[in-house]
Amino acid sequence: MNPRDPGHHLHVHRDQRELAHAVAQRISRAASQAVARRGRFTITLAGGSTPRTLYSVLAQDHARDIPWSSIVILFGDERCVGPDHEHSNFRMAAQTLLTRVGILPHHVHRIRAESGSADAAREYDHVLRNVLAADPDGMFDLTLLGMGADGHTASLFPGRDFSADAGRLAMPATAPTAFPVPERVTITLEAIARSRNVDFLVTGSDKRATLQAVLRAAGSDADPALPASLVRGRHGIDWHVDAAANPHIPIPHS
Ligand code: 6PG
Repeated sequence: MNPRDPGHHLHVHRDQRELAHAVAQRISRAASQAVARRGRFTITLAGGSTPRTLYSVLAQDHARDIPWSSIVILFGDERCVGPDHEHSNFRMAAQTLLTRVGILPHHVHRIRAESGSADAAREYDHVLRNVLAADPDGMFDLTLLGMGADGHTASLFPGRDFSADAGRLAMPATAPTAFPVPERVTITLEAIARSRNVDFLVTGSDKRATLQAVLRAAGSDADPALPASLVRGRHGIDWHVDAAANPHIPIPHS
């Protein structure tokens, strides 16, 4: 582990539901603190399926204790489809959370990926810079991330030329054919590093070996073949995992 790296904090939860409730509590505390200090809380939502339970818990159990009218919503990545498409990350977040709490529409910054990855990435890069400019420290508050069994996060996939992302907060991305919708827009490692808190949500036994490899690689010898190991957060990274993905459980030798 790189000594300069603020560190990785592992939180093992019994199952997805317990993980969702714990992370929802964490978001509620962080949001109340940020709004009291800076008048707003920015949260970058993860896509995929794991966050669905968390977003539902936020809508069901935290509609009142979170100051939703002061919450700013960003997205970690989007597939290049319309906002009503079954594979849209925005659609998933809208159904599970955004339409169920008092978020102000102009505080929801959707990636307009249906316009094509190059144009949408340029536009979102500006959106992210404007959001950062309104923060006294030029930071985002919380970035939620998922991780695939191949070690990708957001739409930063193994094999990506990360040097091309230099100086950018959002970029076009291409997913391997095994994933829905190859053409995408993603936030960059630089954007994630501008976040006060970075929380990964990783569940399922199929991700345990990858998580072990990512935690081993994280830090100075981080591995571009495992993009999740390249992620940095200003105050370290919190990994929320269920028992099935617990990296401390040895992988049975097949
Ligand atoms: C996406 C996500 C992606 C996701 C991981 C994990 O658009 O697909 O941003 O990075 O977080 O693939 O997905 P699951 O939570 O569905 O396993």
